[in-house]
Amino acid sequence: MPWWREHDENSILISDLNAPPSTDGPGKHEFVSPFQSSGDILAASGELLAHLQRSGLRFVPNSAAASMASWEQTLAAQFTSPATSAGVTSAGVTSAGVTSAGASEVLPENHVAASQTLAPTLQERPRDRQQPSPTPSRLTPVASSSVNSAPYPGVSLPVAEVVTALDSLSQSVAGCTRCKALASCRTQTVFGEGSPQPRFVFFGEAPGAEEDKTGRPFVGAAGQLLTKMIEAIQLKREDVYLLNTVKCRPPGNRNPAPDEVANCREYFETQLQLLRPEYIVCLGAVSSQALLQSKLSIGRLRQTFHQYHDSKVIAIYHPAYLLRNPDAKRAAWADLQMLMKDAGLR
Ligand code: URA
Repeated sequence: MPWWREHDENSILISDLNAPPSTDGPGKHEFVSPFQSSGDILAASGELLAHLQRSGLRFVPNSAAASMASWEQTLAAQFTSPATSAGVTSAGVTSAGVTSAGASEVLPENHVAASQTLAPTLQERPRDRQQPSPTPSRLTPVASSSVNSAPYPGVSLPVAEVVTALDSLSQSVAGCTRCKALASCRTQTVFGEGSPQPRFVFFGEAPGAEEDKTGRPFVGAAGQLLTKMIEAIQLKREDVYLLNTVKCRPPGNRNPAPDEVANCREYFETQLQLLRPEYIVCLGAVSSQALLQSKLSIGRLRQTFHQYHDSKVIAIYHPAYLLRNPDAKRAAWADLQMLMKDAGLR
């Protein structure tokens, strides 16, 4: 069964939701914020269900119980506008969205001109034409953000030089003590790994327990889900590059603090400058907000292509969050399909 449908199985849903909090990943403070579409409502309803279960409510599967699928169908039937189904079905997913709603919150004045440099593939995202709203909901995708719209500084290096430069940067990171708290409790730093000439980079938050133990990114439970997600879009893990915003495991898997992100900025920005990927997939709020220099939630940042130098950026829910909130997998799959369509992946 594909990863994004696993939550349709009652048993998997229940075991996922009853699992103790993930120890291998972040995304603890993400949430599906209020709604614009039926997909958003479904996702939020799933989160409410998860919350109730975490609070002690237990669902006992039996033959009389409605399956998750029929529960979703019943709920979905209450929302009739096909124009609001983006994020639920592949049919509703469009190419990159550039909307004007909420633009003033994050964009420099020149954002429209800057985002146009991504043309010709950026297109107007169809809005709900039946009921245009003058005051967008908090879930309206934000306009394409392009904080760093200039080309990557420097020149694109031959692959052998990229490898050498990454190795040397990795050595510096291994000895880094900028964050005393992190440096004193890490087993080792987790620099990143993958193709030195990737078309796609997956940008996570920070190492978890397994990553801290092995020195490799995304090898725990969230990493296994991420690998399935990468394969679902017809890529191989070894063909992409995986890195994190913060290179040391925060104790107890707490979110990295702003000063810790700031201390690691030079490292992840240099990595990206060397790799110069065509696409960057930000996993979760920490990496999305760090790269795009935004305070917006994933609910606002997703479903739109943003820009970071020469790379197109999408923000999706973190796989650790998806493990705890399986209903959000549909939204993540919709985001990955948007990426596939834009990148011509089949
Ligand atoms: N979560 C992350 O963000 N990165 C990892 O490497 C593992 C889990």
